[in-house]
Amino acid sequence: MKKTKVVVIGTGAVGATTAYTLLLRNRMDELVLIDSNYNKAAGDALDMNHGMPFLDGSTVWAGTYEDCAGADIIVITAGAAQKPGETRTDLLRRNADIFDNIIHQILPHNQDAILLIATNPVDIMSYIALKKSGLPAERVIGSGTLLDSARFRYLIGQKLHIDPRSVHAHIVGEHGDSEVPIWSLANIAGVELQLSKEDKENIFVHTRDAAYSIIEAKGATYYAIALAIDRICTAILRDEGAVLNVSTMLGTYCGVEADTYLGVPCIVDRTGIRKTLELTITEQEQELFRQSANKMKAIIAELEQ
Ligand code: 2OP
Repeated sequence: MKKTKVVVIGTGAVGATTAYTLLLRNRMDELVLIDSNYNKAAGDALDMNHGMPFLDGSTVWAGTYEDCAGADIIVITAGAAQKPGETRTDLLRRNADIFDNIIHQILPHNQDAILLIATNPVDIMSYIALKKSGLPAERVIGSGTLLDSARFRYLIGQKLHIDPRSVHAHIVGEHGDSEVPIWSLANIAGVELQLSKEDKENIFVHTRDAAYSIIEAKGATYYAIALAIDRICTAILRDEGAVLNVSTMLGTYCGVEADTYLGVPCIVDRTGIRKTLELTITEQEQELFRQSANKMKAIIAELEQ
């Protein structure tokens, strides 16, 4: 059987934690770490290798872009980090340049892999990856609002004393300030949530602004995003057909001419994004989704000038 291989590009806090999470959960046979600072990737690989007697057999090494050959998934987490008070879109120009360089170094070695983008602003970076790579859209996936949806489910679960795995609730749109909570479809086992307007507002604000609070407290977020990336990798490697709120290139979605990358529920399997699922949302939610799409389109238009 062909060995499964995942490459993680960028071994900052998110990349290194993602690699460690994938390794702990034995998701693949081979794991390659690539960083512009080779020593950082080599140090991470060595550190992880010293844990091999306690692990289940994946191989991990620090590589170069040549090691992208044969990879099933290439996770890109590289980029400048968000500073306290800085929005994800502030990062854009800095990261667009870094990204251009990365994509062009991957392509000579692999055009068959799925690119999984986590660099912020993730919807825009995924769009850039799609355009620069020329790969089919189903194979260029952004981590999108999977993390936001997880935060949302966690906070709803906390409020109602329900396991977050039993809470079904979506955040769609931008992974960022214009993201949209789909309260009209949030449920527990099909049962509508019993939450006051105030509770809902509080839960959403804490969902949307979670990253700001964590960055303020400790400089970066990495554990939950690593678990979200692991979840997407698993859906791909196991050909699951799992429904995950990832960022994908949309045409018209829920009556909105999106024409950009945004987080929506997608069926994820070995082909990447097999299908986007249309939600039945309220007019108010549709309007908020339109605003989120327009925000992304305006940023892209500025970037393409
Ligand atoms: C997060 O939401 C910063 O995008 C990162 O945790």
